[in-house]
Parts: sequence; structure tokens; C-alpha cells
Amino acid sequence: MGAYLPPSPAFIVAFLFAIACLSVFPEVAFATSKHASVTRHYKFDIKLKNVTRLCHTKAIVTVNGKFPGPRIVAREGDRVIVKVVNHVSNNISIHWHGVRQLQSGWADGPSYTTQCPIQTGQSYVYNFTIVGQRGTLFWHAHITWLRSTVYGPLIILPKHNASYPFAKPHKEVPIIFGEWWNADPEAVLQQALQTGAGPNVSDAYTFNGLPGPLYNCSQKDTFRLKVKPGKTYLLRLINAALNDELFFTIANHTFTIVETDAIYIKPIKTNILLLTPGQTTNILLKTKPQAPNATFFILAKPYFTGMGTFDNTTVAGILEYENPSNSSSTNSNNLPTFKPFLPPLNASITTSFVMNFTRKFRSLANAQFPANVPQTVQKKFFFTIGLGTSRCPKNQTCQGPTNSSKFAASINNFSFALPTTALLQAYFFGKSNGVYTTDFPSFPLHQFNYTGTPPNNTLVSNGTKAVVLPFNTSVEVVLQDTSILGAESHPLHLHGFNFFVVGQGFGNYDSNKDPAKYNLVDPVERNTVGVPAGGWVAIRFLADNPGVWLMHCHFDVHLSWGLRMAWVVQDGKLPNQKLPPPPSDLPKC
Ligand code: C2O
Repeated sequence: MGAYLPPSPAFIVAFLFAIACLSVFPEVAFATSKHASVTRHYKFDIKLKNVTRLCHTKAIVTVNGKFPGPRIVAREGDRVIVKVVNHVSNNISIHWHGVRQLQSGWADGPSYTTQCPIQTGQSYVYNFTIVGQRGTLFWHAHITWLRSTVYGPLIILPKHNASYPFAKPHKEVPIIFGEWWNADPEAVLQQALQTGAGPNVSDAYTFNGLPGPLYNCSQKDTFRLKVKPGKTYLLRLINAALNDELFFTIANHTFTIVETDAIYIKPIKTNILLLTPGQTTNILLKTKPQAPNATFFILAKPYFTGMGTFDNTTVAGILEYENPSNSSSTNSNNLPTFKPFLPPLNASITTSFVMNFTRKFRSLANAQFPANVPQTVQKKFFFTIGLGTSRCPKNQTCQGPTNSSKFAASINNFSFALPTTALLQAYFFGKSNGVYTTDFPSFPLHQFNYTGTPPNNTLVSNGTKAVVLPFNTSVEVVLQDTSILGAESHPLHLHGFNFFVVGQGFGNYDSNKDPAKYNLVDPVERNTVGVPAGGWVAIRFLADNPGVWLMHCHFDVHLSWGLRMAWVVQDGKLPNQKLPPPPSDLPKC
């Protein structure tokens, strides 16, 4: 006969606490289910590491001495805690690119926006939960150009009992595209800002940090994808390059795009895709039924629409089949290698190819994965996106478009001046005076034929300006490229939200005709969209996440020239609609 033991006081306290937690933090409820959400702990030690590529050895800033950096793997619903310790002389902060950061704006990461950078010898713990996202994202440094070496994959697996909306792949392989610089990218940036010139370009593109056989000294630094015949591989593609949109293709193979920016899409079958910096995508590669006696180049090369110089080189990896019958005897180096056919990259042909390609993207928009597109909008914005000039300081000769000007970039002709403290801190503590103003224009102050002959005056204004949005505002933004100093495609990235791409076109946006053609049914949902060169794109999002959120061009050169602005999203009335106070270790400026 078992004795009855009254519950201990500690048990009662724990029980009551659990009940309280369930109501305040609904995510705690998962902890009691069979397949619990878990907390994933990571430690990022920022340190220098000697790395050699293209026969150049240099000390680069890395996470844990790895280049590219370590993978973060979590399941949808998990909490991710990353302790970042800075052991280098540079200030740094890390951004979890594409993570929605619902009510965790303090963990978003852009320096001088949501936090002051982590100084030498200091640390900061990023703490966030992944809600309603699954697929591939990435993390990267978010200050100056340190993300040239400080980046890595962020992989979100479906919940334990959830499956992919496609057959389970045999294997999953991340391929992260990067840019390698023989010079120090920090010095390249400093020099460019000083002289006003366009910065020097990178020396190579890389797959998982490897440039491949088309570059000097790089045969041994080649990414190899070893596959078995008749299987499906899920390739997680990430464009972490600084300044270049990249085409990607595999010789003699087609593949199916199934996800973009951690959102499933209606499958797209293709043999070439375009990924802008900041975009991520999952593709399914079905290998040939029999191992062919050949290897195949996997290539990425730039899509460049601007007027300056660019790194016009090609990264190659190799797709090789394991041949079960004579696996040990066949040296794949002796097999013929097939090279992909790439269309001639004449600017206007490629630009219409890109427009047709991007128009194919559609949300799944089904019961399980609905597309919650705002059908009506409360606030409309029209932002011009493009280059411009700023004045060369007196007694200096500059190397901008003229020797009395420097290159600049702007949204609605405002080039964003980075504050010396974090916007979110200033906002939260009511100390925005002297840090930022809330008069960012909703429309260009001077209208002109945006994609026609550019105006004579190309000077930008400078300011630290934000748009304030009440909680839950439905927003539409038309992003209009300008032809000032050359029409150019710009990958615009929004922090804190996904948006729906409801329309796009060439030339100037027409507010009378274009909205009628919007897709409000199954538009693609993403965090980064290419504003077409000489065209426009319309996006919609619901401002349901309180905090301060950057929107910027994901070309670091344009970002450094000021192509960014900030949204201040106010708290809602309910407790779960408010930004919590900052963690106690939030870095100080
Ligand atoms: Cu991936 Cu603000 O950036």
C-alpha cells in the first residue's frame, strides 16, 4: 500500500509558476508536449585567424576561427541563445538575417540601430525564438564590412512532427556564396569613403569559402558536392557576398526551387537562378539515375547592372557522382568536366530574364502555409532608391563621379547618417532628441522622371530619419529605382518583418494603373527583394513587431553610402504587443 505524500511547498510554487508561465509565455506550453521546443546554446568567439586563398595569406576576423563561420541549426519554435565574445580590436555586432525577432528587437544586431557594437573584450548574449519560419537563413556581422568574413548559415528545420511540403531529401547541404578580398575589406571601405570613389572590388567569389579551379592557386580550394545517383539533395543556398548579385547554375542538371528566405514557395523548375545578397533559397537537386562518367561544374557569376567596375569572375564547385561499382578506382579528376551554358550576359537581355525569373515566385498560400497579404493598406510610401553625390570637403580632391564630389546613395534623397548611439535605445528610453528625427519623407520631396534623364543636381541630403508606425499598421512601400549615376538593381532588405512582393515593373511606377495588377492572392513572401534596374517593386507588410527596424540595400557599398532608413514600430496596447526592456548586458557605446 503506497503512502500518500502531500505535495511539497516547493512543488506547489513550481506548479503555480508553470501555470503563470503558460498564460504569459504561451511558448512554454511546448515544453510539456512530447516533442518539446528546446533552447539551443551557441558560443561565438570573435577572433583573428590566418587564412590563405589565391596564394594570399592574411589574418581575418572569424567566429571561432572558422571561415565561413559555424552553422546554427534550430527547429521552428526553438529558442536560440548565442553568447558573442569579442576578442579582436574591431567593434562588432551580429545580425540574424531574416529572423523575425518577434518582441526581441534587442537581439536583431545591426550596430547603432538596435544595439551599440560589442567592444573589444566585451560580450553580448543574443536571445531569440524562431516563430513561424522554417528553411534557410544566415547570420553575419552588421558593422562596416566585417561581414566579408564573419558569416555563416542559420538553418531552421521544421518542428519534430512536421514534414517538408516535398519528399524528404536524401541529404541537405548548405552552400554559402561569399566574396574573397586579397586586400583588407575594412581598408578598402575606409579608402573609398575617404576619396569618395567607388571601392575596389573583390578578387574572387566563393562557395563555402572556396574559390575553386577557375582562380589562381585554388584547385585545392574547391567545393565538391559528392552525390549518389537517383537521389534528391536539398541545397541550401545563401548569398553572403558583399556587393554582387549572383547567378547560380549546375551543368547538365535542372533543379527545383522550393523555398525562399525561410518561406516555402510553389516549386519552380529551372537550370539557373539569381540570388541577391541577403537572399537565401532551398533547391531540390535530383541526381541522374545512373552515375555518369563525368563531373559537372557548379557555377556562380555576377549579375551586374551598375556603371562602375565589378568583380567579373566566376566561382566553380564540382558535382561528382559516387560510382558504387568502382568507387575506389575512379579518380574523378580524370573524368571529363561539363561546363554549364550561360546565356550571353548582355545587360538588357539579362535584366528582362531577371524580371521574368522573379515574377515566377509565388507563396504556397494553402491552409497550412497561408499568405497573409494585407488586402488593404493604412499607410502608403513611395521611396526612390538610388545613387547620388555628396560634396567633396574643401581643400580636398575627390574621386567620385567628379573630382569635386563623392559617391553617395539614398532613399527619397536622404542618405542615412549613422548615429553614435543605438536608435532602439534612444527610442526605448525616450531620448531620441539629437539622435534621430521622425520626419523621413513618405514621398520624394522633389519629383522627377525617375528612370528618365537624371536631374542635373544629384546632391543628396544627410540625416538620421525614421518613419513612425503605430502598432499593426498595414504598410505598402513602392521602391522605385532611379537612373541617377546609372540605373542599378538594389537588393532591399527589411529587418524585423517579412513582406509580400505584390507587384513589380520596369520604368516609373504608375499609381493609376499598376495597383490593378497587384497579386494579392499568392505573392512571394521574403525579407530581401531586388528592386529592378530601372524599375520598381511594391511590397506590403504588417507592422506587428514593436521596435526599430532598418531597411537597407544589402550591397555593403550602397549601405555604407547611406542607402538605409529606419522604421520605428510603436508598442500595441496588450502586454504581448510591447517591446520588453533591454537585457542587462546590452553593449554601451
Ligand atoms: Cu543581412 Cu541589415 O542585413
